Amino acid sequence: MDKKELINNGKVKSVYATDNPDEVIIEFRDDMTAGDGERKEVMDNKGAYNAIISTKIFKVLEENGIETQFIDLPEPNIMIAKKLEMIPIEVIIRNIATGSLIRKYPFAEGSRLEPPIVQMDFKADEYHDPMLNDSLIKALGIATQEEIEILTQKALKINEILTKFFADAGIILVDFKIEFGKDKDGNILLGDEISPDGCRLWDSETLEILDKELFRKGKDSEVMNAYIEVYNRVIPDSEKVI
Ligand SMILES: Nc1ncnc2c1ncn2[C@@H]1O[C@H](COP(=O)(O)OP(=O)(O)OP(=O)(O)O)[C@@H](O)[C@H]1O
Ligand SMILES: [Mg+2]
Repeated sequence: MDKKELINNGKVKSVYATDNPDEVIIEFRDDMTAGDGERKEVMDNKGAYNAIISTKIFKVLEENGIETQFIDLPEPNIMIAKKLEMIPIEVIIRNIATGSLIRKYPFAEGSRLEPPIVQMDFKADEYHDPMLNDSLIKALGIATQEEIEILTQKALKINEILTKFFADAGIILVDFKIEFGKDKDGNILLGDEISPDGCRLWDSETLEILDKELFRKGKDSEVMNAYIEVYNRVIPDSEKVI
């Protein structure tokens, strides 16, 4: 399938139109960013690791009844996906308190959040992704109440599936962010990616960080080893394409 025009050049992925108006090509680049894109570095093969990990996760979710954008991964860093009209909400699920949650609220670092916290942020870098609530979402015309319920239920189901998936690999799914969009028939599907860029992942035994938080902390030399560790643990050898 040929790439046609670039329709969205994001901070870490490029989305291209294809011959099929209902499909896009998502190129996972090797860029890594932090602080709304203020800091940017290139990390060898980071795009491929994230695309392969995302592909595995989309397949696991599909097997468990969650509809996703995923169609194919013809090259390690090239995903063919259903073209979605993205909903500008970052749905965040938190199982353990850390990061901004403990800076803004009186939660103890590392405490378990039971039931998990569902948070929705406005995906708008120019406003620094402010937190939303139902009435803000409706006032902004981003989603209806019914759609908010669908996003919440889907995100919680994804959390259940992935908490188990990562636990089987000796990894704690601390929190993660996902994005949804509408396909040509108006169905809400999981889009974008699920990778160590948008998940906090801790080793179950040592609590060692295995995600982009290392880059946020300036530990640039450690970050790819962490991504490769996640890749090695969650991708069976027969599915390893790099
Ligand atoms: N299936 C899809 N169809 C159309 N657009 C998509 C699809 N999946 C993801 N996108 C969009 O493609 C873009 C990917 O960009 P990318 O993730 O690189 O950076 P960003 O979202 O601008 O920044 P960041 O993720 O760092 O906040 C995002 O705008 C995302 O919403
Ligand atoms: Mg993004």
